[in-house]
Amino acid sequence: MSQKAVLFVCLGNICRSPMAEAALRAEAVAQGLALTIDSAGTNGLHTGQHADPRAIAEAARHDIDLTRHRARQLTEDDFLHFGHIYALDHQNLREIGRIAPRRHSAKVALLLDMVPGRGGQAVLDPYYGDAEDFATAWDDAAQAAKYIVAQLAR
Ligand code: 4NP
Repeated sequence: MSQKAVLFVCLGNICRSPMAEAALRAEAVAQGLALTIDSAGTNGLHTGQHADPRAIAEAARHDIDLTRHRARQLTEDDFLHFGHIYALDHQNLREIGRIAPRRHSAKVALLLDMVPGRGGQAVLDPYYGDAEDFATAWDDAAQAAKYIVAQLAR
């Protein structure tokens, strides 16, 4: 279990959480902070798949390569390795609670709880949306990434 290990969790692990993972990795590199960063889905329907092409395109707009991502499902073991687990929305926060082992010490929260003034809010699911929705999800994740790095750098 490492406090410097961060896991992002959405539904399919092909849209929001891969973008959040990529945005935090970029912010951590920019700030010179060594972190272990990963993402997973509460649902295994997309396991092994690439990120959604619209998520890849949005990451590319920020000069980040998301083509190597492969989706995976959240496991009980994740709660023993990651000190911080961030849910992208409320439904996934509930699912994380269901998947969690009985005993663990990972801190589980909504991602936007990290952003002052946005506590309790969801990063909206862009899957049935368009490029603009992916851009909004990216911006939410990038904002949260700044606060995560600031907190973990202390
Ligand atoms: P994600 O987006 O949870 O941000 O990866 C979704 C991916 C797939 C589906 C829904 C949301 N789906 O219904 O298959």
